[in-house]
Amino acid sequence: MPFLRSRTPFLPWNPTLAGLEFPFHSSAARKGKTMSENTLTIRDNRTGKEYVVPVENDTIKAMDLRKIKVNPEDFGLMTYDPAFLNTASCKSKITFIDGDKGILEYRGYPIEQLAEKSSFLEVAWLLWNGELPTKGELDEFTRHVTHHTYLHENIKKLMEGFRHDAHPMGMLQSTVGALSTFYPSAKQVNDPRQRAHHTIRLIAKMPTIAAFAYRHSIGFPYVYPDNELSYVGNFLSMLRKMSEPKYKVNPVLERALDVLFILHADHEQNCSTNAMRAISSAQTDPYSSLSGAISALYGPLHGGANEAVLTMLREIGTINNVPAFVKEVKEGQGEKKLMGFGHRVYKNYDPRAKVIKGLADQVFEVTGKNPLLTIAVELERIALQDDYFVKRKLYPNVDFYSGLIYEAMGFPPDYFTVLFAIGRTAGWLAQWHEMVNDPDQKIARPRQVFLGPARRDYVPVEKR
Ligand code: SDX
Repeated sequence: MPFLRSRTPFLPWNPTLAGLEFPFHSSAARKGKTMSENTLTIRDNRTGKEYVVPVENDTIKAMDLRKIKVNPEDFGLMTYDPAFLNTASCKSKITFIDGDKGILEYRGYPIEQLAEKSSFLEVAWLLWNGELPTKGELDEFTRHVTHHTYLHENIKKLMEGFRHDAHPMGMLQSTVGALSTFYPSAKQVNDPRQRAHHTIRLIAKMPTIAAFAYRHSIGFPYVYPDNELSYVGNFLSMLRKMSEPKYKVNPVLERALDVLFILHADHEQNCSTNAMRAISSAQTDPYSSLSGAISALYGPLHGGANEAVLTMLREIGTINNVPAFVKEVKEGQGEKKLMGFGHRVYKNYDPRAKVIKGLADQVFEVTGKNPLLTIAVELERIALQDDYFVKRKLYPNVDFYSGLIYEAMGFPPDYFTVLFAIGRTAGWLAQWHEMVNDPDQKIARPRQVFLGPARRDYVPVEKR
């Protein structure tokens, strides 16, 4: 029996959201067309045959292409879409992004309004449950999270095994995976109560693991959770508290980090969420799946970009070097990138970057201005007017300014992605929950285009 209080906390999965049948709202439906007209007629010029496939939500089902064959024994057509540039892997009601307009909404609420008026725990509830919580619901959820912030003492011993210079993302990813061995009930992924239970545990324990990783890296004793503080206040206390009886939380930094967690909470089917869904599709427990999602986020093209931005700004060094750096990027044939710029979906300014840029001023009033900000602002100014970036629709993304705030708050660059992961934990778990409830979903197993050698017989070594 895991070391838990008897009453299992329950995050109700809103029944109206449980099903994922969507109102028929493709562009054709919006034009008042009937269901029968919402089809695609495909003519196979190899055979002269025509096929009619239904269009739903502006998509066709890839499996409908399998009936298109030249010979009856053919496998049938597939789509070839490496990196899923044009493939919807799921139906979801959690996050909406309009990349051309730079719009981001969690369950229909604009990210700008949530950043201004909400809190990370309220957003975590919203992402999971689909509606903003009542005060009573939020208070109960907060109480459950607050009372699950501790870690089993053996986790401390496990973390002691890391070198002093271990990258905190490596520590986070492996420690979260190890947590799966402490909670065998997490394997009951089809039980909504267990999903809620372990979701609360993961949201609660991520800051504690992250703080322990930080204290390990600087050789300081671990600070245990202080349940009288807020979610972010407790995190800052576990990071910064020394011999004082109680850590004094700076409210400006507390609010800034809460907003940053909100901004990073979810982002529809990004690389790490895709990893979370793919691993969980095998009915893997959420700790092991989340460890995989953390690994995907670790990559410099994804969540690791915020750390790479600081390295890039330091490499540039002064505002005078910006034009030369931009020239190197443009002539680098894609080898050298402007880190923190560009996005698979946003072909406009990332709305999160705008909020973060505004947040920077508030933080710098407390911490002092980060001198690298001048270089970042100049880099943005030049890039936004340079045809190379304009033509490719490359704008600042969430990672371009976030690192400047994190560094000003005293976090080392290799810790920035850990902060990203704490926020994104809420989204990864909400997406997992939605996937488990989706009748369309089963174990993820893509196909391939085989271009390898035809069948051949083994050749003994003496005859090669
Ligand atoms: C995140 O998916 C998400 O939602 C992710 C995220 C989330 O919240 O989960 O938003 C978080 O990961 C933000 C992105 C952080 N990464 C970076 O800042 C790294 C730098 N950015 C690039 O690596 C790139 O823009 C990606 C990876 C973000 C997107 O790459 P795509 O969509 O695969 O685009 P691409 O690589 O095909 O680029 C198209 C063109 C290429 O030039 P050409 O071959 O056409 O000449 O644009 C160029 C690229 O070379 N390009 C860049 C560039 N990004 C793309 N050139 C210079 N600097 C860049 N940053």
